[in-house]
Amino acid sequence: MTEPVLFHVADRIALLTLNRPDKLNALSYALIDALMAALDRIETDPAVRAVILTGAGDRAFSAGADIDEFSTNVADGRAAALRDFVRRGQAMTARLEAFSKPVIAAVNGLAFGGGCEITEAVHLAVASDRASFAKPEIRLGMPPTFGGSQRLPRLVGRKRGLELLLTGDPFPAQRALQIGLVNAVVPHAELLPAARALAQRIIRHGPDAVAAVITAATRGLNMAIGEGLQVEAEQFAALVGSRDLDAGLAAWRERRPPRVSG
Ligand code: COA
Repeated sequence: MTEPVLFHVADRIALLTLNRPDKLNALSYALIDALMAALDRIETDPAVRAVILTGAGDRAFSAGADIDEFSTNVADGRAAALRDFVRRGQAMTARLEAFSKPVIAAVNGLAFGGGCEITEAVHLAVASDRASFAKPEIRLGMPPTFGGSQRLPRLVGRKRGLELLLTGDPFPAQRALQIGLVNAVVPHAELLPAARALAQRIIRHGPDAVAAVITAATRGLNMAIGEGLQVEAEQFAALVGSRDLDAGLAAWRERRPPRVSG
């Protein structure tokens, strides 16, 4: 049987490839579960320091939730639809958002629905100049269900977000860059090298400091600033006495580049 998520590690970076190209990498339950299992594996493997997420084939990053599959849950009623579809998808995007190692989406094509929601949830995103995005759930008569009604307006602003959510119209990579949904747009052939280069610029720093920055920024964004400052203080405090912080401060005192850990 074909694996729904391909897993390959090189240079301390895990490349996860959503692998249902004949279905435009639609997010079946099996694919979501495989992605979660891959993240579990990566989280406890100190040899892996960053994750790049991309899509198989030449058309899509992901065309979103598998409509045929979740339709059967909808037909089964509210409880089944929430349990099997919504909670599973929300857990996936929440896990990506809070993951302690940097996750970079390399958006190689269509990122519609859940594909766009993954892009919203991950820490950083690089898009191919062939990528296109959409929030098409409204065409199906529903709001987004994998966090897209919450993260997009927070990320790009309420009015920009609502325009995309209410029209459902596709938009190109350059627009995604302009509104802050992705960090960069690169020629298609340079997508994975660009994502890898970005990952390398992050993982030269200590893993504990990287995790602290991700946690402080991600948790803090969803809180009032007073609570966010408390999270920032806790993240710093947890590093006092750590190897990374001691080494970084010693390098500063000795006027030499920091020793890269891990
Ligand atoms: N769920 C399940 N299957 C999907 C899918 C999805 N979200 N998106 C695409 N597919 C399948 C199609 O059914 C088709 O399979 P088939 O060849 O067995 O019929 C295959 O992927 C190719 O898609 P197709 O629709 O033929 O390609 P297209 O180029 O004509 O259109 C899209 C591309 C993305 C515009 C169109 O597939 C689409 O609208 N998909 C749904 C997007 C969406 O609403 N996502 C949010 C879901 S909540």
